[in-house]
Amino acid sequence: MIALGVLLSGNGSNFQAIIDAIAAGELDARVAVVVSNVASARGLDRARAAGIPAIVVDHRGFASRADFDAHVAKLLVARGAEYVVLAGFMRVVTGALLGAFPMRVINIHPSLLPAFPGIDAQSQAFAYGARIAGCTVHFVDEGTDTGPVIAQCAVGVLASDDDASLRARILHEEHKLLTRALQWLSEGRVTVEPRDPPRRARVTVAGAQTFSFAATPQNT
Ligand code: GRF
Repeated sequence: MIALGVLLSGNGSNFQAIIDAIAAGELDARVAVVVSNVASARGLDRARAAGIPAIVVDHRGFASRADFDAHVAKLLVARGAEYVVLAGFMRVVTGALLGAFPMRVINIHPSLLPAFPGIDAQSQAFAYGARIAGCTVHFVDEGTDTGPVIAQCAVGVLASDDDASLRARILHEEHKLLTRALQWLSEGRVTVEPRDPPRRARVTVAGAQTFSFAATPQNT
């Protein structure tokens, strides 16, 4: 079993997927603590409802990103977190956090990286006219959505889609992809092989298929 620290800023449906997967016996993990930089985040209510410690750390009270991250890292370590999951955490993290959890910070991003990094990736893909959108689970580095990829799921863009329907289908796949990747980590199946730049570290998962395709609805 692995101990997770979850960082979030909003709704927390990915966090809920983690709670549900643990309850269903599909994810061998426990959530040690949830930290949000936003006091009104719905994810905090989800934590309280599940009996998980929920802590607000308002980033506005810190002089720098690094100071905020160092504080959060200390808190995560003190609570026994082994891995950190960014589950809709709307801040770029710095070495102050990554140094405390080397190759142990995981992000879920709603695009097929390296396409459409940054905020509102689903809208970026829709506005671009992409025919295949999707989501990515990756280790976090100091860039914005640039870290080594663990797994990806492709989601086709339907002729009938609008921004909201595409976003909803991607989110549905995010929940499955994130919990699956965390289970791989829990089972110790994930290996990261450092490589010389410009190549990035290569992630392998023993005995697992790290790509998937969302089922396409028939009534397109
Ligand atoms: C998700 O789309 C995730 O990929 C992105 O932020 C959103 C968070 O959604 N990083 P939720 O708070 O988990 O519902």
